[in-house]
Amino acid sequence: MSGIYIHVPFCKQRCYYCDFFTSTQINQKPELVLALIQEIELRKDWLAGEKVKTIYFGGGTPSLLSVDEINSILTVIFQYFEVIQNPEITLEANPDDLSLKYITELKSTRVNRLSIGIQSFIDADLVMMNRRHTAQQAIDSVINAQNCGFNNISTDLIYGLPGSNEKNWLLNLEKMVSLKIQHLSAYHLTYEKGTVFDDRRKKQKLFPVSEEESISQFNRLMDWAAQHGFEHYEISNFATEGFYSKHNTNYWKQEKYLGIGPAAHSYNIHSRAWNPSNISQYINAIKKLRPEFETETLTLIDKHNEFLITSLRTQWGIDLIAFENQFGKEWKERLMQQAKTYIENQKLNRKNQSLLLTKEGIFVCDAILTELIIESE
Ligand SMILES: C[S@@+](CC[C@H](N)C(=O)[O-])C[C@H]1O[C@@H](n2cnc3c(N)ncnc32)[C@H](O)[C@@H]1O
Ligand code: SF4
Repeated sequence: MSGIYIHVPFCKQRCYYCDFFTSTQINQKPELVLALIQEIELRKDWLAGEKVKTIYFGGGTPSLLSVDEINSILTVIFQYFEVIQNPEITLEANPDDLSLKYITELKSTRVNRLSIGIQSFIDADLVMMNRRHTAQQAIDSVINAQNCGFNNISTDLIYGLPGSNEKNWLLNLEKMVSLKIQHLSAYHLTYEKGTVFDDRRKKQKLFPVSEEESISQFNRLMDWAAQHGFEHYEISNFATEGFYSKHNTNYWKQEKYLGIGPAAHSYNIHSRAWNPSNISQYINAIKKLRPEFETETLTLIDKHNEFLITSLRTQWGIDLIAFENQFGKEWKERLMQQAKTYIENQKLNRKNQSLLLTKEGIFVCDAILTELIIESE
């Protein structure tokens, strides 16, 4: 099984923390949509006939697409790929795009899951982040979507914001419960190079929270999840029963995916490919019927590292049987040798035939991975 990702690289304005590949030149949208459609056709063989289980419109801001544009893209996918019955089809949306009119129209498409970028239910946070919606608009977008029949809704929240504390973080989490949202992606704020937040931090106009505060907000998040029936199935992802993101789970289980659009990545077990991070360059290449993507063939070491990085972050952990089948006994012994200290220090737990992060291990996941992966020569 496999997935298709469509990158919609436009935003009405840039949020002060975000360095994703996106542009405010929305006038390029019609040309881009034509190019996306054409790329889908040109790359119809990339998945080598494998069935498509999930489709994901990510961004940028996919909710800037009209319903006609969404339908045209989906029609071509269904024309050129074998899509399973009842695929998961997600659209990332900004709350202020989700008017009742838009959601009603959206419900008539095949989109059956919404991932709404709420970030915070607190107005002062939203202003600080340069979001273009209010807390009330965020709440209304969820209620409108539910009233229109969307029953698989995810939201993104950011914690560890400057000036934040456990109390206001908990306020955000409680809103999730009262709105009966099924899935949460919760990210700790990171200061990305070139963003307004990073610039303000360097100029000491904005102060990151302390490490203790970050840890206590993350602990609060884990406690909240356990109390409210949210499974913590990946470091940043929480879902009520049956509502995991199938698309992202595909990535973590190393299934194939095709990435359409500028800056999109694709993976087919043997190689990885990525499109140019430049909208005009992308459109021009597609117009000439020559998609320009760079490809890298994965070595056994790349595959090994990929396996560890993607699986350790999930609640299923590293499947030691699958690992040995793919990489052999010697590499498994090496892995267990490297993991030994972390098991002794209770950062990793060996449970049956899996290697899992413990609650304490989650905080040092990156350090553990640095130890477990193999450096390429
Ligand atoms: C690329 S955005 C797309 C979603 C949509 N455009 C929106 O903003 O609502 C995906 C998510 O990444 C998260 N994100 C982006 N930059 C981040 C940062 N520097 N720190 C923490 N989370 C970040 C936000 O939660 C955001 O919703
Ligand atoms: S967070 Fe979303 S809306 Fe904000 S700049 Fe990034 S992609 Fe655009």
